[in-house]
Amino acid sequence: MKITVNTLHKLAEEGRKITMLTCYDASFASLLDEAGVEILLVGDSLGPVMQGVDSTLPVSEEDMLYHIRCVARGAKNALILGDMTFGAYQESPQQAFAHAARLLQAGAHMVKLEGGAYMAETTRFLVERGIPVCSHIGLTPQFVNMFGGYRVQGRGEDAQRIVNDAKALADAGASLVLMECVPAPLAKEITETVKAPTIGIGAGADTSGQVLVLHDMLGVYPGKKAKFVKNFMEEAGSIQGAVEAYVKAVKDKTFPAAEHTY
Ligand code: KIV
Ligand code: NA
Repeated sequence: MKITVNTLHKLAEEGRKITMLTCYDASFASLLDEAGVEILLVGDSLGPVMQGVDSTLPVSEEDMLYHIRCVARGAKNALILGDMTFGAYQESPQQAFAHAARLLQAGAHMVKLEGGAYMAETTRFLVERGIPVCSHIGLTPQFVNMFGGYRVQGRGEDAQRIVNDAKALADAGASLVLMECVPAPLAKEITETVKAPTIGIGAGADTSGQVLVLHDMLGVYPGKKAKFVKNFMEEAGSIQGAVEAYVKAVKDKTFPAAEHTY
């Protein structure tokens, strides 16, 4: 069955976890789809993962369109989420709409954009015009130059800022709120208070769903492994087995464990 925004809301309502993995090509799209991964994220992590660049900033709209088309050809049922690229949506709601429309025309069903409450206006603009939005808050990798590195966000007094971001974006109509690298109790509080389902990466076990970068969970990515990553290949022995183990672990709430959590 085709996964839609309605499916995601139903899963969240019933307390069943949503699974997401990044995906950049048709072969993996088919494998992930077959394993029951609900959302394939064509993330701008394709810069570091596919292209070998050292951040997500150099990834272009052209790059995204190419990889979305590849993934769309391999996926049958999964919902395809496409990242909006750095510099292609921050100027205005109009700029964001034009960019998002092209991602949907390439095969995405929803777009993800980074940024807090100030992106609420853009979010509403897209949603009112037929483009579902996943908001990405907390550690937003396109802000690496502002953050001075990839650091946990929302610690201590900073927590209220993240709560306000999540509320404003969900109120603006975001279909999902993705939180990256925030303390688990904060992610739990946000999941319990905002109306949109939440997806976590490095955000503890109490979000509506989880996401990992495919190459991280397969142990393929050569860079330093973040605390929140689990290598599912170690025990599985095959790529298909690893993806199935990830889906099962998210569904039965054994991943993420305390050791993966801030
Ligand atoms: O681009 C990406 O892979 C992402 C995930 C880390 C959420 O945005
Ligand atoms: Na991304």
